[in-house]
Amino acid sequence: MMQTLIDPFARPISYLRVSVTDRCDFRCTYCMAEHMQFLPKKDLLTLEELDRMCSTFIGLGVEKLRITGGEPLVRRDILTFFRAMSRHLDSGALKELTLTTNGSQLARFAGDLAAAGVRRVNVSLDTLDETKFAAITRWGRLPQVLEGIRAATAAGLKVKINAVALKGFNEEELFRLVDWCGGEGHELTFIEVMPMGEMGEELRLDQYWPLKDLRARLAERFTLVDLTDRSGGPARYVRLEQTGQKIGFITPLTHNFCESCNRVRLTCTGELYMCLGQEDMADLRAPLRASPDDAVLEAAIRAAIARKPKGHDFDYSRQRVEGQMTRHMSHTGG
Ligand code: GTP
Ligand code: 5AD
Ligand code: SF4
Repeated sequence: MMQTLIDPFARPISYLRVSVTDRCDFRCTYCMAEHMQFLPKKDLLTLEELDRMCSTFIGLGVEKLRITGGEPLVRRDILTFFRAMSRHLDSGALKELTLTTNGSQLARFAGDLAAAGVRRVNVSLDTLDETKFAAITRWGRLPQVLEGIRAATAAGLKVKINAVALKGFNEEELFRLVDWCGGEGHELTFIEVMPMGEMGEELRLDQYWPLKDLRARLAERFTLVDLTDRSGGPARYVRLEQTGQKIGFITPLTHNFCESCNRVRLTCTGELYMCLGQEDMADLRAPLRASPDDAVLEAAIRAAIARKPKGHDFDYSRQRVEGQMTRHMSHTGG
């Protein structure tokens, strides 16, 4: 019998985001502290445990897996995990296996990811200026990422670019990003910077560029046609009439999408976060390790889903720190 996970607000949970590592080869300023204390390797779920965890969720009706991090492609032997998950694509239980990456390792992995059944990747790229790229990632090399994106395209993967909209940082590059994505055939999604991490409220608030302002700038040059399809994700889309390209907006601050939330997040240590913008989480590692019987884990998953809150608490409107969470985005993989 087909199983479904339904939360207390009647939302079916069909999408699991899995952070396979808290490590990353970059340190984007809005995502990580410069000197992050990474978890000891022994705290991480093994790839076998991650497999059992994901397979149990799939058995309960999860149809989409997005692998995140940190940077998922820096986890040792990650291809083994992708290859293992592809059996659920083959059986038809899983509709999509995908990842969100910074692109740095894509040149190496794109072909094998495609062979494992990945069809599209989301790549984080906030700027096309080499110096600014090095500044926002603290030391990343833009050419390496662009090469990764080219390799992904060459391997037949669809690429969606995620750009965090940052006041005073990429405002002036808006049209450059749009034109570049249009030329390369990549979808582009802008994201409002979310108040996470311990950087201090002023800074995050100072960086905040509301997407309604960005949209108004876009409308000065293009005719924006609203698309109603949400593709099950947080983004709202427009089509630019002049070029035909699709642009997404992820606006947790100015217009949230919690009412149609379909997802939960598993960290690399087996914590399940029922909402990105809430601190509540359920430890699934203990039930996983407590018994080889999947029924124990299934019961823990159902109990966690029953605690999924209605929505997040992000808020800049009070112009103060109460809405900022100390957890880093890299902990849950966005
Ligand atoms: P697709 O819709 O499958 O392309 O993916 P996505 O946009 O959901 O995933 P991606 O990993 O590219 O995330 C883009 C941004 O959306 C990140 O900044 C995430 O933190 C954010 N995001 C994803 N899901 C949620 C959510 O449920 N709530 C909030 N507030 N933000 C989310
Ligand atoms: N606010 C918004 N988006 C963020 N990301 C990381 N940190 C933040 C934040 N504080 C984005 C990354 C990546 C995605 C997983 O989350 O750029 O595209
Ligand atoms: Fe790494 Fe992505 Fe966070 Fe940047 S946003 S530090 S690339 S996990």
